[in-house]
Amino acid sequence: MHRLEVALAERGYPILIGSGLLDPDGEAAQTLRGEVPGRCLVVSDAQVAPRYLGRLAAALGRSQAELPNVVLPSGEAHKTLASFGQILDACAGAGLRRDDLLIALGGGVIGDLAGFAAASYMRGIGFVQIPTTLLAMVDSSVGGKTGLNLGAGKNLVGAFWPPRLVLADIDTLSTLDAREYRAGLAEVVKYAAIADPGFFDWLAARVALINARDPAVVARLVEVSCRHKAAIVARDEREQGDRALLNFGHTFGHAIEAALDYKGLLHGEAVAIGMLQAARLSERLGLANAADSARLEALLQALGLPTTPPQITPERLLEPMALDKKATRKGLRFILWHGIGQARIVDEVAVGEVRAVLAERGPRA
Ligand SMILES: NC(=O)c1ccc[n+]([C@@H]2O[C@H](COP(=O)([O-])OP(=O)(O)OC[C@H]3O[C@@H](n4cnc5c(N)ncnc54)[C@H](O)[C@@H]3O)[C@@H](O)[C@H]2O)c1
Repeated sequence: MHRLEVALAERGYPILIGSGLLDPDGEAAQTLRGEVPGRCLVVSDAQVAPRYLGRLAAALGRSQAELPNVVLPSGEAHKTLASFGQILDACAGAGLRRDDLLIALGGGVIGDLAGFAAASYMRGIGFVQIPTTLLAMVDSSVGGKTGLNLGAGKNLVGAFWPPRLVLADIDTLSTLDAREYRAGLAEVVKYAAIADPGFFDWLAARVALINARDPAVVARLVEVSCRHKAAIVARDEREQGDRALLNFGHTFGHAIEAALDYKGLLHGEAVAIGMLQAARLSERLGLANAADSARLEALLQALGLPTTPPQITPERLLEPMALDKKATRKGLRFILWHGIGQARIVDEVAVGEVRAVLAERGPRA
């Protein structure tokens, strides 16, 4: 089992990563029981609860029948105020008090919703995350952000509310849809791309094992990814500086997702395409060379991620970029790189350069 600590200003918390962590006789389950001595409510979704609620109950030393839970329909469409209200009502129905706990069992949608409910119920109660998607393990469960969507846009409501404990049992990934698994890998590649050339090489040398979801390799890549995110978050908890580096590929990716009305591509897939566009923009600006873009493209493709942008006009993609808070009359803000492992924030990138990258669609000769 890997264990790492996320250091936040007010209170840090441990992340436990490995196989068999929900095994009732193991050390992780013991730690979990230590965090949940009293009443709790499990929040999960319709895909995850039938598979893992029983295992979680056993790890907590309780029967499933006596474990209060609320099971929401699965998917982003349910990260809403209505689901949030349902969780709060369930908290009250289960008689939770200030020293009781919410447990999120699921992907990023459940983690964000349950975390925000924990931040709000009785002005804040404790919260444990049991992420069951790769994206939730390497990204959304680290850093303390919680939230939900409004009709007007994604993640418009939320709070910083760190969990007390994150327990990432790699075994739960065995039932995750292949596309969802690959989408999580895009964020893993991102950490290597922005900060860790050694990790990039390590991933490139283990593509077959990663694609086969080898438990030891997956546990290690989750651990390294969490370490990177935790380090950046510890340096910049409230997103004043460095944390922006985590948006490598995201400005392009978000523009693609928005243009497609969030249908057709998963977030990680859009980020994969966006990272390659960021690498190509870096090339155009003379910050990095073509060999780095080619290595990034090769790794993303080997992991089964898309790298060719969908047919969308550059003007359509430039629209949301121009509305970005960090855009000025002189240009746009991007996270670019000097090559693998060396990301940096670049302001005032000329719109014409971005347009040229967006117009580049087919594979390179
Ligand atoms: N808080 C943050 O810092 C942060 C960071 C990144 C993303 N997010 C949020 O995370 C969300 C995306 O998370 P996600 O990709 O985990 O999506 P998700 O929670 O919707 O899960 C994806 C799908 O996989 C299913 N699933 C989950 N675990 C499974 C398992 N082990 N076996 C079988 N099926 C399983 C779910 O039911 C769902 O259908 C978005 O809402 C995004 O805004 C938050």
